[in-house]
Amino acid sequence: MGGTATETRGTWGSRVGFILAAAGSAIGLGNVWAFPMLVGRGGGAAFVLVYLGCVFLICTPILIAEIALGRATQKAPIEAFRHARPGTAWWLTGALGVMSGIAILSFYSVVAGWTLGYIWFAATGALTGDAAQVGALFGRFAANGPVTAVLAFAVLAITAVILVGGVREGIERATKLMMPALFLILLVLAARALTLPGAAEGLRYYARPDVSRIASITIVSTALGQAFFSLSLGICGMLTYGSYLGRRENIAHAAAWVASLDTTAALLAGLIVFPVGFSIAGFDPATGGPGLVFAVLPRLFGAMPGGSLFGAAFFALLALAALTSTIALLEVPTAALVDRGWSRKRAVLTLTGAIAVLAIPSALANGGNGTLSRLPGVNTDFLSLMLTVWNNWALPLGGLLMAVFVGWVWGPRNALAELTAEGQTMPGAALWVFLIRYVCPLAILFILVMTARDLLR
Ligand code: TRP
Repeated sequence: MGGTATETRGTWGSRVGFILAAAGSAIGLGNVWAFPMLVGRGGGAAFVLVYLGCVFLICTPILIAEIALGRATQKAPIEAFRHARPGTAWWLTGALGVMSGIAILSFYSVVAGWTLGYIWFAATGALTGDAAQVGALFGRFAANGPVTAVLAFAVLAITAVILVGGVREGIERATKLMMPALFLILLVLAARALTLPGAAEGLRYYARPDVSRIASITIVSTALGQAFFSLSLGICGMLTYGSYLGRRENIAHAAAWVASLDTTAALLAGLIVFPVGFSIAGFDPATGGPGLVFAVLPRLFGAMPGGSLFGAAFFALLALAALTSTIALLEVPTAALVDRGWSRKRAVLTLTGAIAVLAIPSALANGGNGTLSRLPGVNTDFLSLMLTVWNNWALPLGGLLMAVFVGWVWGPRNALAELTAEGQTMPGAALWVFLIRYVCPLAILFILVMTARDLLR
């Protein structure tokens, strides 16, 4: 084995291992649960269009920057900035990331817990009723505070066990099997969804943009936040994963893979949810809320031979996809503590306990508690509010700081040296520099300012 630093911090076993772990971090509930819900709230294809623009023009350049900074410093969130620019306040970017990771995990684990519940429902045939019955089942289930809280704790406990196992044995091994299986099942489901009666209407909604909707800044800022969330950016998570990456690997190439896989998974989820949704009489995608996927998909399983088996397999894979993301989320604060001298085990256990407590309000936000389910003044539930606050504000802010830091402070020269280390090539290097220095910071700043102005009006 290499030096002591490598032994204690851990490294990826192979390049494919890194791509799969990073893709595993990216692909999760953000793709299958949040994306269709936000497309529905955002009015369909117009949202999809803005989302794609954000992914490729803003987020992918930042993804490359995060991985490069992580690998160059071989440090996790906070220490990476201290290492690259000692004595400055830039480490606060890492601190913001640590905070965001903890907060996001607190509600993410609740939704991941729902998927565990739905493995059971699908397997036992509870999802075979008509659309109204299945919708009511979600309502009753999500409103059961104690059960959803315990399921969220279970998700956190499993995450903690895998994380204690370390980078290669824990994270990498778990991901290698699960991601291909998830893609396969998404493809099969999409094929079935597209042959349902009514699918054409759903497809039209999903693929034909009503461009007038893009005029709304809320849609743009939600699309940007979702792009960050889906690619696991803005909390130095990809920086952390990059810090375990060997120097011989081509970062830009890996980043392109991760962004493409993640986007494909999200688009596929929409290709399933909307055709199926519109095959249900009276379906309104805008009002689906956090239950959209859970209420719509069972309809598809009902229309397939072996539906309960299929449904159970689907929710099992979704739970696993969520797990590779909870792992990534918990790894950020964990790595920050490990770099400060904590043992991995102590860091993981302390954080898991704290996040379990923080998860409770989110578990009570879909009927478990009246106030949390409909917050006075903002007219939404606590879980949806958390999603909006962290996605639409904290993640873009983290991304903005990352772009400014890599583009202007650490500088393109250092970054490009890292990106082309050991003879690696980077086609489009000049374009990347232009995007990271000008397009990313200005676009994010513009969207944040316009959103704030809209809120204050
Ligand atoms: N990207 C994951 C998803 O789409 C969630 C996630 C994992 C995440 N790590 C993250 C979101 C870091 C923001 C930041 O489900």
